[in-house]
Amino acid sequence: MKILDELAPRLSPEAVLRRNEPLAKKTTLRVGGCADYYAEPASEADLSFLLQFCELKSLPFFILGRGSNLLIRDGGVRGFVICLGHPNFSRVEIVGERLHCGAGAKLKIIAQEARRMGLSGLEFLDGIPGSLGGALRMNAGAMGGAIFDRVESLRVMSPSGQPGECSVAEVPVEYRSCPLFKTHIALGAVLCGTPAPEEEIAQRMKCYSLKRWEAQPKEPSAGCTFKNPKEKAAGRLVDELGLKGTRVGGAVVSTVHGNFIINDGTATARDVLSLVDLVAKKVKAETGIVLQTEIEIIGED
Ligand code: EPU
Repeated sequence: MKILDELAPRLSPEAVLRRNEPLAKKTTLRVGGCADYYAEPASEADLSFLLQFCELKSLPFFILGRGSNLLIRDGGVRGFVICLGHPNFSRVEIVGERLHCGAGAKLKIIAQEARRMGLSGLEFLDGIPGSLGGALRMNAGAMGGAIFDRVESLRVMSPSGQPGECSVAEVPVEYRSCPLFKTHIALGAVLCGTPAPEEEIAQRMKCYSLKRWEAQPKEPSAGCTFKNPKEKAAGRLVDELGLKGTRVGGAVVSTVHGNFIINDGTATARDVLSLVDLVAKKVKAETGIVLQTEIEIIGED
């Protein structure tokens, strides 16, 4: 029996299932091929069943957030790409100083809800074009803050479909990484805010937005390409070496910020990857510093 015909009757009617799903438009960089299979489960039970199905059929899976830190190769992704885009995964409920959020919730909505309820500490999330799940997976940060500074507990699912809760104290986190999510799937988190006047929060958000508007490019990109090495910010390194504006095909090192690679509208994943490689090699040759990519790279050539 065909994979999707076998799967569809076992999931809720609102679940989305498709074959050969184009992925480029599901990422902010807008490059890359198709997923063999694409699924949007409508409940935790759907997701659990999907994961068990993948295990049974030896099909790989990848959890797609809002695709803002992601580069999909031109040959696409084998197996399932699963997106927690159904509203059942995107709740943001505020109880006292805590925000109970689903992994599919947009970071912007979380920041705005926190502001509306007079809770500060989450302002930095406002301009990050991602979902909570993606932010947890990479311990996303901006403006001096990082998501795990505000996480109290997590709801996760094991790769074999078992849901569970854990306190943040049990979960090791690093700069731009939370290794738990190399295997497990984020279902949601409880975040903590700090009471503050709404006007003060709004002012801080405005200031961050202005900073971002001035310092970061507006063209399609995957955000910062490289993690900041301890020696110096990656953007500054690239800038000082005169690499801004370097181009491979339709991929260009932003002239606004050296750590962004933008897509001029014609880039392929191969263009972007060649440029990433070129920049990393020049930085290594000139300074000895080894840059590590921050963007996640998946799929086949
Ligand atoms: N700089 C330059 N030239 C450039 C870019 C930056 O000299 O072309 C200098 C800046 O003047 C500054 C330093 O490098 O002194 C750092 O730059 P910036 O303040 O823009 O911050 P960043 O370290 O490059 C980090 C995050 C961003 C986040 C910003 C704002 C990383 C890898 N990046 O960038 O996150 O938006 O801070 O808080 O940690 C992302 O992770 O995708 C991302 C965009």
